[in-house]
Amino acid sequence: MFDDDERFIASTKSEIDEVIENSLRPTSLGDYVGQKKFKDSLSIYIQAAKARGEALDHVLLFGPPGLGKTTLSHIIANELGAQMKVTSGPAIEHAADLAAILTNLGRNDVLFIDEIHRLSRAVEEVLYPAMEDYALDFVVGKGPAAKSIRLKIQPFTLIGATTRAGMLTGPLRDRFGVLGRLELYEPNELSKILTRSAKILNIDITPDAAFLIAKSSRGTPRIANRFLKRIHDYADVLGTGKIDEDITKKALKMMEVDDLGLDFIDHRILLTIIDKFAGGPVGLDTLAAATGEEATTIEEAYEPFLIQQGFIARTSKGRVAMPLAYEHLGKKLDESREKQLQKIAKDILPE
Ligand SMILES: Nc1ncnc2c1ncn2[C@@H]1O[C@H](COP(=O)(O)OP(=O)(O)O)[C@@H](O)[C@H]1O
Ligand SMILES: [Mg+2]
Repeated sequence: MFDDDERFIASTKSEIDEVIENSLRPTSLGDYVGQKKFKDSLSIYIQAAKARGEALDHVLLFGPPGLGKTTLSHIIANELGAQMKVTSGPAIEHAADLAAILTNLGRNDVLFIDEIHRLSRAVEEVLYPAMEDYALDFVVGKGPAAKSIRLKIQPFTLIGATTRAGMLTGPLRDRFGVLGRLELYEPNELSKILTRSAKILNIDITPDAAFLIAKSSRGTPRIANRFLKRIHDYADVLGTGKIDEDITKKALKMMEVDDLGLDFIDHRILLTIIDKFAGGPVGLDTLAAATGEEATTIEEAYEPFLIQQGFIARTSKGRVAMPLAYEHLGKKLDESREKQLQKIAKDILPE
């Protein structure tokens, strides 16, 4: 089987990805495919901020990996005509590091903090007055003589990105004026992204093949672009270099991706729930231990698509395999279980 770096479907990225990914990033809102509702409101906020010469309200982007959070952050800065400083939660170790970044921002600049849910508490506290009043609060001296000093900084826009909005503290989340939840993409949107990427990478691809890849990419642009590159390799070696439906089918099969876009890890997750836990409900940590996957990987990278497609449901008691999973894997679903599942469906947690 594949080791971690070779997983075709993993939507986290490797270093090679990074270079190609940057070349494929759209740079304007117009080129950013999909997410229409959020894009439309964002466009209005950006125009309003520009017209007033003010900093855009702070923006929180959340959603599974590979859906375009980093891309969108760059686009926002571009559209604002602002400079953007890029950092991440784990990279800011001390409160003083963040204070230094903030004091160096120019008027109406953008600060992008990726994985913002991983900021330490002490660092996070520096952000509160910065976001709210464009100010930093320092305590000078010790004991009864200690004084609090407030230092003004330039107005700026914080863009935070996270795969786990639920892990953000309340006070931090409340300070974002614009909340953008990125959704999994439809096949026709991914098809557009693929066609655009193929053009940039000089890859010849038929519309049918693009659609087939789109359907197998679990709603995720990063996975779609990765498939494009891998299938291009297959096309070069096994065919004429052109990506058509035939080559795509063969390549997907060799990569162990089935016709609904599920890979062997999805299969393992579903089979584990069905065979080892009688279809569930099973808790996330138990499922992780039984499949040998990290709980966060299941939760962030695998589960969103499996839930969206209706293979599993997340209930208050744990994960449950739904009738579609039985059908897709050719597993028998007896009548009493099916009735139970109908009841369980009522217990599904809101997202
Ligand atoms: N809406 C989109 N339109 C076009 N390409 C996109 C879109 N969203 C993501 N991509 C592509 O997918 C890749 C991954 O996006 P990225 O912004 O790095 O995701 P995230 O930061 O959410 O993990 C990028 O290289 C980009 O080219
Ligand atoms: Mg990112």
